[in-house]
Amino acid sequence: MTALLVFESMYGSTAAIAEAIAAGLADVRVPATVCEVGLAPTDDAPSLLIVGAPTHQRGLSTPRTRETARGGVDATVSPGDGVREWLDELAAGARGRSVAVFDTALPGRLAGSAAHTIARRFTKAGATLVVPPESFAVTGRSSGLRSDEVERARQWGRSLALFAAAAATRVG
Ligand SMILES: Cc1cc2nc3c(=O)[nH]c(=O)nc-3n(C[C@H](O)[C@H](O)[C@H](O)COP(=O)(O)O)c2cc1C
Repeated sequence: MTALLVFESMYGSTAAIAEAIAAGLADVRVPATVCEVGLAPTDDAPSLLIVGAPTHQRGLSTPRTRETARGGVDATVSPGDGVREWLDELAAGARGRSVAVFDTALPGRLAGSAAHTIARRFTKAGATLVVPPESFAVTGRSSGLRSDEVERARQWGRSLALFAAAAATRVG
């Protein structure tokens, strides 16, 4: 099994979660390539595609929310387009893929979830979600992750490999 992990990140939290998930996959011997969304291929065919983004205005970032996020900081991790635009490009190639999705968000029911938006788009395009969307909590807009979230992401990465293998067996 191989995994491609695509992330968007303004201040580094979603990037850190992506690296932790990749470390979890490596723990169970699944090689994962981690790609910032601007550099991510749309024509690769990994056995598992994992996509994550920060929650902006209860969903995926837009050019306007990214502009807001970039105000007042020298640079953001993702310098250009986000997962929304990458999914536009991928759409036709999403059918039949095994995917898992995550986001970072403020804790609480009203925070919304970029992961749910990504999940809806994948499902509509004919991809299969191997696990439900997962959210990892930040402590504020740009203040970083809650302390236990990196370890939880690593565990999520480990368990993902098992669910993806089970899903592949069902399909095969
Ligand atoms: C313009 C903007 C809008 C945001 N809207 C939301 C939101 O609706 N819900 C939420 O939980 N967090 C919201 N946030 C906080 C982000 O979720 C947080 O900045 C992100 O998780 C940090 O991840 P990153 O460091 O990878 O960018 C917003 C942040 C920005 C900059």
